[in-house]
Amino acid sequence: MSVDITSVMGMNTSQPPYLASDPMGASALPNKHLLGIEGLNRPTITSLLDRANQFADLPAREQLSHLKGITVFTIFFENSTRTRVSFDLAARKMGASVVNVPVATSSIKKGESLIDTAVTLNAMHPDILVMRHHNSGASLLLSKYVNAAVINAGDGRHEHPTQALLDALTIRRRVGYIEGLNIAICGDIANSRVARSNIHLLSILGANIRVISPTTLVPTHITEMGVELYHDMEEGLQGTDIVMLLRLQQERMQGAETPSQREYFRRYGLTREKLSLANPKALIMHPGPMNRGVEISSELADDVERSLITAQVEMGVAIRMACLEALAFGLTKPDQRNMK
Ligand code: NCD
Repeated sequence: MSVDITSVMGMNTSQPPYLASDPMGASALPNKHLLGIEGLNRPTITSLLDRANQFADLPAREQLSHLKGITVFTIFFENSTRTRVSFDLAARKMGASVVNVPVATSSIKKGESLIDTAVTLNAMHPDILVMRHHNSGASLLLSKYVNAAVINAGDGRHEHPTQALLDALTIRRRVGYIEGLNIAICGDIANSRVARSNIHLLSILGANIRVISPTTLVPTHITEMGVELYHDMEEGLQGTDIVMLLRLQQERMQGAETPSQREYFRRYGLTREKLSLANPKALIMHPGPMNRGVEISSELADDVERSLITAQVEMGVAIRMACLEALAFGLTKPDQRNMK
């Protein structure tokens, strides 16, 4: 893949190359926010992936200034390592100012509602608000009360759009294409926003998706999303090119959805024996954090030939750079920012 570095750097152009070379523009992300994959179209997704692919090819220490003057707030109501750090790093690499709102020590702990928090933060004129929240629909709600563009960094069981985008970029860079691939998403589908966003995105890009899950961890309507459903992992893995594993999300479970972890691993944990039923070069993905010995054997988690898990983390930064840029240039002109 050859990349024109000068176009990524914005050199020799009076305007950021995104606008010059790409039809995506201000209206391509609905309502100027990135709340989910549902509602995005294939050209928009492809544009984001193409742009992130350019960022991914830049030297690790490259510092850009595309988002100079833009202020990004991150506000995480749930724990996060990779997503939060990756948004923070992406924004700084693009030259934006970043404020990580400290939820644990803020007034939110004193019982302030999400809306009151939103209105307070909005008064400080952030351009982009990146939020993770335990309630599905929280980022949509937030977007109705702020002038800033909102990026959903995971809302309850609903969506996690940048995770799905980074997964797609990881696959594209390793395999070369997504159309026609057989992709198995395995494990706790019911509680997973990653699964929902990936099902939307990979279907839009033409992959064949199957989900492999115990009956207690899969929503009954899942096949309406155009996926094949398997409860037997050995059967479901046959003919797959990518095996995407999900964490058992105990914090969102109601009660006894799973047997013991040992029993879960026996039936749904990926081992080398089970992987041998997939296509010979099948690749492994996991959004993290992963539980070794529960959804994946430790040996496979460390298999550098088959596992894309580290590459996924790496692509997270590039994807978030592209998303921040797309939203920033969908905002009003700098001198009118937040003055609507
Ligand atoms: C996922 C999330 O938070 O939805 N993790 C992530 O963003 N890397 C998946 C999970 O928590 O299991």
